[in-house]
Amino acid sequence: MKQADTIAFEHLTVRYRTAAHAKDAAVADISLTVPQGTVCALIGPSGCGKSTLLRAVAGLVKPESGCVTIAGGKADPKKYCIGFMPQNYGLLPWQTVRENIVLGCRIRHEWHDGRAEDEARLAKLMTALHIEELASRYPHELSGGQQQRVSLARAFLLRPDILLMDEPFSALDAITREEMQDVFLALWQEQHVTTLLVTHYVEEALYLGQEIALMAADPGRIARVFANPLGGCPEKRGSQAFFEMSRALREDIRAISAARAGEEGRS
Ligand SMILES: Nc1ncnc2c1ncn2[C@@H]1O[C@H](COP(=O)(O)OP(=O)(O)OP(=O)(O)O)[C@@H](O)[C@H]1O
Ligand SMILES: [Mg+2]
Repeated sequence: MKQADTIAFEHLTVRYRTAAHAKDAAVADISLTVPQGTVCALIGPSGCGKSTLLRAVAGLVKPESGCVTIAGGKADPKKYCIGFMPQNYGLLPWQTVRENIVLGCRIRHEWHDGRAEDEARLAKLMTALHIEELASRYPHELSGGQQQRVSLARAFLLRPDILLMDEPFSALDAITREEMQDVFLALWQEQHVTTLLVTHYVEEALYLGQEIALMAADPGRIARVFANPLGGCPEKRGSQAFFEMSRALREDIRAISAARAGEEGRS
């Protein structure tokens, strides 16, 4: 099993200089720990800073204050292999599906065209994600859901130390989404990669996340963190406990947005 590492946000504040209201922080004073080998699902309203948190781990935005650490040290993308599946899929338009998938491994000199072990792993992944027929197409020749699965394949092939997934299944129909969640779980069970997963779906957060962090907006902050004993347990999907947890989670999300509306009403 691959070594996975704890991710910790310590009083992290990020402010985009180009923001329309530069006085507003995108996320403010975020403290959150994702323990080694677990999946943390981030859920919250649009604009509350979920993608910003992933970008901060990947080193793509600089904190105004506070920090992100991996295994207690600086979150240095040169030191750790970070698999980042961005919200817009991040595919290179001039490269084929196959080239896009192997890109991350190639950059790390971990890919050899024609090497049986590498090719077998790629073929297995592409089959599991139902993209085996698309190897020689270009991204503009794919549907949104197909592009999303190519981006997933790239992140998984890398066998990263840390996995960052930004709404990884959002463009998929309901049945394919559930199937891809299971593909993710099977891969995660092989490697136990510490994972931050952004989602808008309560059931997805419950199905995949051992921890669920609820965020609130303006400024982006962590409103509540749940331990979720049902996360990562396929046999629990559809159970009474799962149903009850999803109802409780929805109530919490409603309470957080009602509190926010109340704050706005007073200001
Ligand atoms: N490059 C940028 N420049 C300026 N402001 C930005 C930039 N990227 C994001 N923001 C702002 O930062 C805040 C957080 O954005 P972010 O993309 O992290 O939200 P999100 O929770 O991922 O939203 P969504 O669910 O819609 O994807 C928003 O107010 C957004 O407008
Ligand atoms: Mg986002």
